[in-house]
Amino acid sequence: MMKLANSALGLSALAFTLAACATTASAPASDEAPYYVREGMVNGLNPSIMAIWDMQVEVMDDYGNFDPALMDDAKWESLLANARELQRQSALMGEATNYVAADPNGTLTDPPEGTDLVAIQQRLDAQGDLYRAMSMTLAGHAGQLVIAAEARDAERVTTLVNNTQPVCKACHDVFWYPEEYTD
Ligand code: HEC
Repeated sequence: MMKLANSALGLSALAFTLAACATTASAPASDEAPYYVREGMVNGLNPSIMAIWDMQVEVMDDYGNFDPALMDDAKWESLLANARELQRQSALMGEATNYVAADPNGTLTDPPEGTDLVAIQQRLDAQGDLYRAMSMTLAGHAGQLVIAAEARDAERVTTLVNNTQPVCKACHDVFWYPEEYTD
């Protein structure tokens, strides 16, 4: 279903681009509004997944699973809202065309030790398509979590929540800390 919606969108975007090309030259990607990756991580992606991980600790059984007996309506609603927010933020990141490692006028404190924003920018410039694809993988994963939360399927929720961190890490391995793997 998601795939169909995407290809329909792709087609209308293509039609739009062709129409635009007929009258004016298409604008270079750098004219697009920048997506600031660091700010996106800290303010966009991180809060919703942190809330989900905090909830897991609160409602887990002895094996770390979401325990349906400890989930009330408010908790299910909150889980659903956070899953939707994670999906929305990941898709927002994946739909961007102009990635900038950090907002030059940003107000965040220093990034984690070892973060090399210049190197990150080079990777973003060289592999923008991969970055977009990995963002969409996370959006798809969060979409599965939305469905599981809507169904109040605690077992499926547990699996998906436990499998989220590897999706984050897959992208971090390529764009954030690849130097760890060079020697
Ligand atoms: C498509 C790529 C991508 C995905 C997916 C991704 N990240 Fe990131 N993340 C990055 C990049 C690039 C950096 C390094 C830039 C930076 O320092 O923020 C980063 C940095 C971070 C940081 C450090 C922020 C700081 O203070 O500088 C946090 C926290 C973070 N990510 C959390 C997450 C979490 C949680 C997920 C999964 C839910 C996730 N990220 C998924 C690309 C990604």
